[in-house]
Amino acid sequence: MSPKNPIFCALDTTDTDRAVALAESLKGAVGGVKIGMEFFNANGPAGYAKVAAAGVPIFLDLKLHDIPNTVAGGIRAVLPLKPAIVNVHAAGGIAMMRAAAEAAAEAGDARPLVIAVTMLTSLDEGDLHDTGVIGTPADHVLRLANLAAKAGLDGVVCSAHEISTLRRELGPDFKLIVPGIRPAGADVADQKRIMTPPQALSLGADVLVIGRPITGASNPHDAAAAITASLAA
Ligand code: C5P
Repeated sequence: MSPKNPIFCALDTTDTDRAVALAESLKGAVGGVKIGMEFFNANGPAGYAKVAAAGVPIFLDLKLHDIPNTVAGGIRAVLPLKPAIVNVHAAGGIAMMRAAAEAAAEAGDARPLVIAVTMLTSLDEGDLHDTGVIGTPADHVLRLANLAAKAGLDGVVCSAHEISTLRRELGPDFKLIVPGIRPAGADVADQKRIMTPPQALSLGADVLVIGRPITGASNPHDAAAAITASLAA
């Protein structure tokens, strides 16, 4: 899948009515929406189906991390929902990632992209060392991205500042899904290392995950359309 519109809007809410209203209003202005554990744990597959009924592709961001058999089962369980993208933690290891890819392949042509989370951007080098990982975050991200590619996954979630290296090391077909994106002049909120949509796209991002600059706007459709227009400029 290579969405014509690279923007996936993060619907970070537990409120089904709000998520459905956003998905309906964003249709045509974004490439898809992202639903995470906050929404899915609160509303389950039934809530998901209501959002999906708006007709927008969905990135189901559950960040699975467990033994291979359990992760394969977790992926298999969401295939009937037909998500466009699902994800797992690369730290779960190559066997777990292979099991996830194989489970997703059971959906045939309707298979979702399976993406690995490398290193959460909430962690810094000190946190890595606390977990026994010695080395820089950049090395760790590259090592995990290589492992994800070897496992047959479609790509990784990465910060905008890792796009250039990962694109160079992993080639043109490996999907790079990038959060921490802010249009010029937008409220940064709690994101620390941000980049604008055109910058991230020109470096080689495939999907731009953007939440509050769209969902917090008085007119989310217009906000998304303006970001999309900035990409063509
Ligand atoms: O509102 P905002 O644009 O900051 O939302 C970004 C979305 O991307 C949120 O759903 C957040 O959880 C997610 N995300 C992130 N940074 C990561 C991984 C995911 O911001 N490293």
